[in-house]
Parts: sequence; structure tokens; C-alpha cells
Amino acid sequence: MHNAIEIRDGQAVIGGVGVRKLASSCGTPLYIYDQNALEERMAEFVSSFKSDTLQTSVLYASKAFSCLAVYKLCQKHGLALDVVSAGELYTAYKAGFDLKNVYFHGNNKSRKELEMALKLKVGTIIVDNLMEAELLAFLVQKPEYQSCRVNTLLRINPGIEAHTHQYIQTAYVDSKFGISILKMDEIAQIVQTLSQAGISFDGFHAHIGSQIFEQEAFLAEITKVCEFAKTFEEQFGFVTRTLDFGGGFGVWYTDADKPVAIEQICKAVISQAEAEKERLNLAFDSICIEPGRSIVAEAGYQLYEIGFLKETQNRKYIFIDGGMTDNIRPALYQADYEFDVATNMDAAKTETVTIAGKCCESGDLLGSEITIQPYQSGDLLLVHSTGAYGYSMASNYNKLPFAGVVFVKDGKIYWAIKPQSLNELIERELLEVEEVQ
Ligand code: LLP
Repeated sequence: MHNAIEIRDGQAVIGGVGVRKLASSCGTPLYIYDQNALEERMAEFVSSFKSDTLQTSVLYASKAFSCLAVYKLCQKHGLALDVVSAGELYTAYKAGFDLKNVYFHGNNKSRKELEMALKLKVGTIIVDNLMEAELLAFLVQKPEYQSCRVNTLLRINPGIEAHTHQYIQTAYVDSKFGISILKMDEIAQIVQTLSQAGISFDGFHAHIGSQIFEQEAFLAEITKVCEFAKTFEEQFGFVTRTLDFGGGFGVWYTDADKPVAIEQICKAVISQAEAEKERLNLAFDSICIEPGRSIVAEAGYQLYEIGFLKETQNRKYIFIDGGMTDNIRPALYQADYEFDVATNMDAAKTETVTIAGKCCESGDLLGSEITIQPYQSGDLLLVHSTGAYGYSMASNYNKLPFAGVVFVKDGKIYWAIKPQSLNELIERELLEVEEVQ
């Protein structure tokens, strides 16, 4: 269950700071992380995902929320990092993250990105397909990269269909990610391409989707991946050392969501992996998971000011000073959230309203027909559990600047990302267009 919010004098308090103070000091819209909650989740994953017989690593899937400050916290708590682009990798580098503990993902890494990974001595590249394996095999022969000791895993698609929104499923049979385990020969060719180039190949990675609540889906994935590793070993003599089972653990957004506790899911993954290793007599000695959302979502909130109000024939609209630009999830995935009038927390939730953003799109609704406390223009609206895929999927549509991100802890507020200024919004634009040389 998510953290219940503290209420003081009718206003919501996060990390010891009241929302009025947050709005007056930092402005709205604002992304807020309860730093203690964030760190507790990181620590809980690391301490729960432990085995007596296997090496274990928790990789933070940083696409959920990537910035210097969050990478620094990951390092502090002993998490490794999953990055998917030159941008995330550069951020990790600039955060001083130990790049040995970085895993580089992606179905279409560019040559530039692969070269950057080799130059920076990234620990592991998760190869997605044969063309990538061939490019990597070619690159490591170049004199400048010959000293690079990169490890690789191959992303396979175990064909588990998890019950989640179709845009965030990744392991159905025609998924763009990884190689289907039915294509054994192609997998063998990739492994051979890497091995012949002298690249260390450790094993396999799979990820079945995101916001998954059924523990059984993860257990079925582990069984399928282990059975695949066994067949692959029997057919091609390759001994798997590492298995990475991906992320996707569900979180609370509304009371309809019943997430499995972090400790429970970690222990279930460990015991399933240990049991399958034993049953199939496999030799792997290292396992990984890649939680993103389940580390950052529930520790994050978004704060808006309520502006104009409007009533149509059938709806009461509340307009807020942000919208789909700072949280695209309702428009893109029909995602639901829990809302509070954060300046009227003592009142009962009696008002049914639609929360609309300020973008020129009819679909820019953060919540449709939801129930909140009585409100007035000027009140603050708090959205819960917005710490994942909010800031990281933000856009400048309608030229709205990116909102700032703060961490709150023990009554103090810290900027993690400053809000974008109007000047920054146009700083790459040219009034006199410039001829390209
Ligand atoms: N590992 C891999 C290879 C992934 O593709 C993902 C997410 C994760 C780990 C982390 O999954 P998580 O633990 O965060 O569920 N934008 C969507 C979610 C897209 C997830 C993409 N991959 C959303 O807002 O729901």
C-alpha cells in the first residue's frame, strides 16, 4: 500500500513540507519526490533481492525518471543502472555513477551510442538483435576499443503475455523487443558472433511488460527463461552465467491497484530462480531485476494550482496550470490517478469533476469524472503516485516549459531539476536562420 499522506491544518504535507510552502517557494506545476520514501524503496529492493547461493543485482530502470540526483541516490544504495540512450548514459556519467554497473539497453542503439558505451567502459550491453551483435563485433576490433572489456547479455522474448495496457506489453510474439525464444538458430548465431569477436557473453535478458500485478506472470517468465537456457545449452553447448528478468512490478495509482509488496516479489523471484536452477541443473550464478516504476512512482507527486472553473451541460471542469505536457499517461494509456484538493484536506470528497490541462487538445484531461474535496480557484491540486514516467515523458507541446522537480526531506526542499525558463525554451532557436555548412 502507498504511503498515506500527512495532513496539517487542512493541507497536505510531504516530507515535512506543506503544499502551500512548496507552491510559494517553487511555483506550480511542480514534481515533488518524498526523498525518504524514494530511498526506502531503493534500500528495500537491494536488501530483499538477496540469495545465499546467487549473486544478485537490482538495476534501476532509469527511463522511469532519469536525472543526476536520482542516479546519485542509486549509487548510494548500491543499485546498478539500466540506461537506454546516449542521454541517459551521459547523465549517469555526469552523475559520477560507476559505469561498470551500467547496463545499456535498447532495440536500435546507434553506432555512436555503442561507441560511446565502449569509450566510457560501460559494464554490460544488452544486445537486442543480430545486426547489433555484428556492429558490436566490428567495433571491438578497432584499435581504440580493443582494451574494452564489455559484457553482453541477449534480450530474448519468452512470449509471456502479461495483462497490462497493450502499449506497455513487451513480450507478445510480434514484439519489437529481443529475439523470440522460438528462433533458436538466430539466437545461436548472435551468441557465436559475439563470442568469435572475443566479447564476453554472459546470458539472457527478458522483460515481460510494465505495471503487472500477477506474481505468477513473473514466475512463469522465470521458468520459461530457465527452460530456454537449458534447451539452448543442450543444443549449442552454451553455459548461461547470468539471467536478467527485467522489471514491470505494478504500483498503486488508485485503490483498484493491488501491488505485491517489494519484499514479497523479490523473495518470490529469488526462490523461483533458485528452484529452477536446481530442477534443470543449470550453472547460472547471477541474476538481475530491473524495477523502474516500483522504485519511483509512489514516492512522487505533482502539484498544480487550480485556475479557471467551467461548467458545461454535463460536466464540471477544473482547469490546472499544467496537463498532458507534464503527465501524458492519462492521454496515452487512459491511466487513472488519485487526486486531492491539497489545501482542503479535512473536507470529505463530495465533488465530481473533470480535471483538464491547459493544452490545445480535447484529450488533455488528467482525470475524468473523479471525486475530490470542495475547491475554489486558487486551491492547490495534488496528484498521487506520479513519480514514474511523468517527468521523463514530459514535452514542450504548446511551448509550455518543463516544470521543476524537487526532493523534500525532513522539512526541507531541494531542487533536483530547476524549471525551464522561457529563455531556455528558445535558446536553440535562431531568429536569422543559419546556412548549414
Ligand atoms: N526493463 C526493460 C527492458 C524495460 O523495457 C522496462 C520498461 C523496465 C525494465 C522497467 O519497467 P517498470 O519496472 O518501470 O515497469 N511509459 C510507460 C511504461 C513503459 C515501460 C517501458 N519499459 C508508462 O508510463 O506506463
